[in-house]
Amino acid sequence: MSKFKIEVDGKTLEYPILVGSENEKAVDIAKLRADTGFITIDHGFLNTGSCASAITFLDGELGILRYRGYPIEQLAEKSSFVEVAYLLNWGKLPTSAELSAFEKKVASFSTLPEYITKMIQLMPKTTHPMAIASAITVALSGHYPELNNPNPTPAQKDEIFALMLGQFKIITAAIHRTLRGEALVASNPTLSYCEDFMSMMGMKASKDVAKALDVLLILHADHEQNCSTSTVRVVGSSNASIFASISAGIDALWGPLHGGANQEVLEMLEEIQKAGGDAHKALERAKDKNDTFKLMGFGHRVYKNFDPRAKIIKKACDTVLAQLGVKDQLLDIAKGLEEKALADDYFKSRNLYPNVDFYSGIIYRALGIPTNMFTVMFALGRMPGWLAQWKELRETKETKIARPRQVYNGETVREYVDASKR
Ligand code: SDX
Repeated sequence: MSKFKIEVDGKTLEYPILVGSENEKAVDIAKLRADTGFITIDHGFLNTGSCASAITFLDGELGILRYRGYPIEQLAEKSSFVEVAYLLNWGKLPTSAELSAFEKKVASFSTLPEYITKMIQLMPKTTHPMAIASAITVALSGHYPELNNPNPTPAQKDEIFALMLGQFKIITAAIHRTLRGEALVASNPTLSYCEDFMSMMGMKASKDVAKALDVLLILHADHEQNCSTSTVRVVGSSNASIFASISAGIDALWGPLHGGANQEVLEMLEEIQKAGGDAHKALERAKDKNDTFKLMGFGHRVYKNFDPRAKIIKKACDTVLAQLGVKDQLLDIAKGLEEKALADDYFKSRNLYPNVDFYSGIIYRALGIPTNMFTVMFALGRMPGWLAQWKELRETKETKIARPRQVYNGETVREYVDASKR
């Protein structure tokens, strides 16, 4: 492979080129500053890779998403969330015996340490569920001190993976029930992951709803180096514990520009409904540079085509609402908004399409999940992705502590002046 050449100060320098299995190319600039005194600047890391990874591949131009090479469409249709979690972590689909053993292992983490339940109950009822989720996740480290080790043994890695999937399911339900002043429902390890979750949430048991939930969790399971996953990697790179890394990822996901968008979409649709259902005003505000309003659930850093997950969720909306016999005007408003936006040059010229957050809230709402729990649902789905990416980081020999550079643009050197002379 030829080298990447740059010309600077009359010199031609060459840098190694990295080519991935899907022919993505990168230039390795590890020696750039030593050679030239230059660093690169790339606000928001639009063109900057932080790692090589074998977990998820996405092509934003073509709207492709694959977990360990398997297309998301096939996994959503044929797999289960626990099987997809196994795939993300161990890089292969499990045999039936492996899957059943793994399901039992995840289900075996069926109770929370008493202090964790008490902490959830002590949180003010006004606390956002994502704040509780993050605090509780890092507090869990107190119960498993031996698993705070940044270089766990293979057995400890397997334990952490199953433990976090099992416990976070219970934490999510415990937050939901506690904030509503309802008694906790014990986990029933004989149920499937989603059926047990629904039972602990106090949702009516239904195979259709469990399947819809399973698909939603699959679609959220990983998404390469997004903001929250990069946060998990950055915190993990300092040798902080897995609990701290995941807790930081939850905090990053909470942001309305990231996972918090699913809650914002619902609130935006309710606003439009209150104003008579006319999407026109929302579109005009989204286009107005003087207005900070954005069309939530639209646009994506990588997808400049349809987010393949949004397509699947949109289809699932119709199915689930029909199965539940739910008519939700917000779905009609969302579809109308999408149609108008996709016909509008502002959105078309910027390749702004519905993303994973645009329709997911409609289904969560139909399932009876309150709006302020939507982003915790996103975190529940993303848990296997964060864990798999943290494991890959810990097992990659090139891993170094994340410490970006900067270009300083503040005051140059100046002498201290006594207060009496200022
Ligand atoms: C997730 O990265 C991932 O993979 C994330 C995720 C995952 O699975 O982990 O897919 C999950 O976070 C999905 C995104 C959820 N967020 C939203 O729905 C919030 C609304 N979307 C925008 O805030 C925005 O589209 C982002 C944050 C998603 C992407 O922002 P970028 O890549 O920094 O793009 P940008 O803000 O530079 O936008 C480019 C242009 C700008 O206009 P101009 O300056 O060129 O005139 O498009 C405009 C933006 O103003 N624009 C929007 C818009 N999104 C972008 N204008 C109105 N409404 C929007 N939603």
